Amino acid sequence: MEFSIKSGSPEKQRSACVVVGVFEARKLSAAAEIIDHAADQFLSDILRRGDMEGKAGTSLLLHGVPGVEADRILLVGLGKEREFREKEYRASIATAVRQLNETGGFDGTLYLTEIPVKKRDVAWKIRQASLVVQETLYRFDRLKSKKDEVRRPLRKLTFCVTRRNELATAESALAEGLAIASGMELAKNLGNLPGNICTPTYLADQARELGSSHGLGVEILDRTEMEKLGMNTLLSVARGSAEPPKFIILRHAGADEKLKPIVLVGKGVTFDSGGISLKPGLEMDEMKYDMCGAASVLGVLKAAAKMKLPLNVVGIIPTVENMPGGAATKPGDVITSLSGKTVEILNTDAEGRLILCDALTYVERLDPECVVDIATLTGACIIALGHVTTGLLANCDSLARELLDAGNEAYDRAWQLPLWDDYQEQLKSNFADIANIGGRAAGTITAACFLSRFTEQYHWAHLDIAGTAWKSGKEKGATGRPVPLLAHFLMDRANRAAQRATKRKRA
Ligand code: BES
Ligand code: MN
Ligand code: ZN
Repeated sequence: MEFSIKSGSPEKQRSACVVVGVFEARKLSAAAEIIDHAADQFLSDILRRGDMEGKAGTSLLLHGVPGVEADRILLVGLGKEREFREKEYRASIATAVRQLNETGGFDGTLYLTEIPVKKRDVAWKIRQASLVVQETLYRFDRLKSKKDEVRRPLRKLTFCVTRRNELATAESALAEGLAIASGMELAKNLGNLPGNICTPTYLADQARELGSSHGLGVEILDRTEMEKLGMNTLLSVARGSAEPPKFIILRHAGADEKLKPIVLVGKGVTFDSGGISLKPGLEMDEMKYDMCGAASVLGVLKAAAKMKLPLNVVGIIPTVENMPGGAATKPGDVITSLSGKTVEILNTDAEGRLILCDALTYVERLDPECVVDIATLTGACIIALGHVTTGLLANCDSLARELLDAGNEAYDRAWQLPLWDDYQEQLKSNFADIANIGGRAAGTITAACFLSRFTEQYHWAHLDIAGTAWKSGKEKGATGRPVPLLAHFLMDRANRAAQRATKRKRA
């Protein structure tokens, strides 16, 4: 798909289809108003006859509209004007793209991007539009022998802005949106691949490929190297599987090497059977998604490289398959972690924290500016926040604030849960320094408490994406979240670094 930005009159666009919005109670958007005027009330006549009410999700394709250059006009319902917010804006773009893909034309010119969205600027609207377009057109059919062919697919989209002096802002927002979208697409593809294809070895190969195509440094540790380092809790999870574990290190060096890196750690369990604490069979296939944290790290590094962010970012991916083979770790086993702390593994299904704790100890040697881990860590997080919101816990309030803000800006939102010491009690073990589970109560918090015991040396935040990384049911599939949140977090850091630099120059 080709994208461009434009500013100009809707009636003068030589396009296969110009898309404008209609609010409920048949109120035309500004661009629709202009077309209506040029077309001698053609649109308002149609609305009066009752063919289009402006309800959200509806649309009406018009041919031969007089006084306009375009072959077609697509009216998209926007719902009530008073209630038109982020969600409604995104939905209107999705409706437009779905309809455009079914018309005979190859290109479309969207005026929906001109419609005001409360508190949001042009850059936000263009970024979101490009993300929604790519999301709407996404298909995962590489494992089907027959693909659904779109007869005349959309090839080119133009986003319109109201004023010429908005063009430059919109152009850079488009580039950002497309970079983030390509990171999301990578994360979705990896998530959707089944466990027999997307193994730890496959993830390591993907990281190498991403490294050479996007100029990232890549280092992969194999089992022997991890044994030498003493990553025993990570290795304890891999013991029950025939798939060898990998430890992936990816580097985006966008700034002076003296600048401390931002470190992102992604849980990469390519299939989580539960191990000896075997999961029930229902929906167990979905545990192929247990590497979505890892996928989001690969995705956001891809986006960061595309945007050439002036930051140093390191992505760390501990990746294993959790299986109940003959050599598997057993409930009650005690393992000495890389940190030296001993862990009593009371439940082998709480494996995410076991691979993360060694990764979080490993990153101390990178002298990080801050560390964010991303993990499909607890079913309890789905109970607490559903599939809408990512769980956030942190040992640093300003870092938590930054991530919450980034999520709001990206429309990929998170919510903070408390990481108070009072919860640490639940992790007491009679036989080791710490137990790997803390009982049924507050499962998301006690999982984060476990991790917090390995992150005392730096500013750290944890994102539990168990509810947000994929959708179940009829539309089963990876979402690519939280790539947008993470991308915005990095973009904000890059902006602040640039602001500090100009201040220094002035001083
Ligand atoms: N990968 C799961 C968490 C999960 C479960 C994510 C369901 C999405 C949907 C994780 O490894 C796990 O099994 N966690 C256990 C922890 C428990 C044993 C303390 C859980 O949530 O049940
Ligand atoms: Mn598990
Ligand atoms: Zn898991």
